[in-house]
Amino acid sequence: MTHAVTARAHTNIALIKYWGKRDAKLILPYTSSVSLTLADLYTDTTVEFDAALAADTFSLNGEVRPAGKISAFLDLVRAQSGTTAHAHVRSLNHVPTAAGLASSASAFAALAMAASSAAGLALSPTDLSRLARRGSGSASRSIFGGLAIWHRGSDDATSFAEPLPATTLPLKMIVVLVDQGRKAISSRQMMTATIATSPYFPAWVEHNEAAAEKMVRALAANDFAQVGALTEASSMQMHAAIMASEPPFTYFEPETLVAWQKVQALRAGGVPAYATMDAGPNVKILTLAPYVDAVVAALAEPFAGRLLTTGPGPAARILKEAS
Ligand code: PMV
Repeated sequence: MTHAVTARAHTNIALIKYWGKRDAKLILPYTSSVSLTLADLYTDTTVEFDAALAADTFSLNGEVRPAGKISAFLDLVRAQSGTTAHAHVRSLNHVPTAAGLASSASAFAALAMAASSAAGLALSPTDLSRLARRGSGSASRSIFGGLAIWHRGSDDATSFAEPLPATTLPLKMIVVLVDQGRKAISSRQMMTATIATSPYFPAWVEHNEAAAEKMVRALAANDFAQVGALTEASSMQMHAAIMASEPPFTYFEPETLVAWQKVQALRAGGVPAYATMDAGPNVKILTLAPYVDAVVAALAEPFAGRLLTTGPGPAARILKEAS
């Protein structure tokens, strides 16, 4: 008899970034990070263990894909649950108009929730976050809705995310689609290169851990100017550490800086808007609900049709169970 479970998890964007693993196998980060889970970008994943299967299978948006990383993750679930069966895994990424934002955060959070439940485990949110972390560090934060902090911790048991108290700030995020292609270098590879070769990496670690604490205080105080300033600084400092690697590298494209400069100009004109970039060229703009129209208008040239406005999204959850 088989048991299929479908879970939905939303992607998240880090305001205080995670960049660098101090334990690559357990995915323990050098610093804590703080993120916002988003409403409009999410992954639905169905897991069905079946003793008759000879190997795990995986499909993404209906296309069969190699199951390697998924199988390695399912091995963790098998070890915890005592299940030996292989599984069918089917994922659907709900990202409007092929936005190039398909994220490992929503993918592994949804997989952790669906696989653990299908294997008969009833994990707490903390243990789900620890499990999701093993697939992709940022996935630890996608177990939760709204604002979350991933505590760096000192070992597997203490490195997990948890929700931050709700803010009264009407947060909004505008995604600027600069490029929809695949990343030039994966975050996993580039983190390793940054740690090994960037002379700025130690400074990044020291500064970013303190920034995470400041961010928690700024959010608790509903101080948007400080939240925004910390958000921009963490992103630019991460990219500075990346650029300083040997050989040098950047995720930025010319239009990344076009969007970034428009955000600086908006702010100079009194609009509270702050930019953050991840392991790719797209720009995400953090602002408040009353200013969305002003930000969208300012970015329309040249980004009309490439802007997606979203806001805080919910925690990961089970959508469906069928025996
Ligand atoms: O979780 P990963 O391995 O995909 O790394 C995510 C890294 C950034 O997106 C650049 C930053 C972050 O904290 O999400």
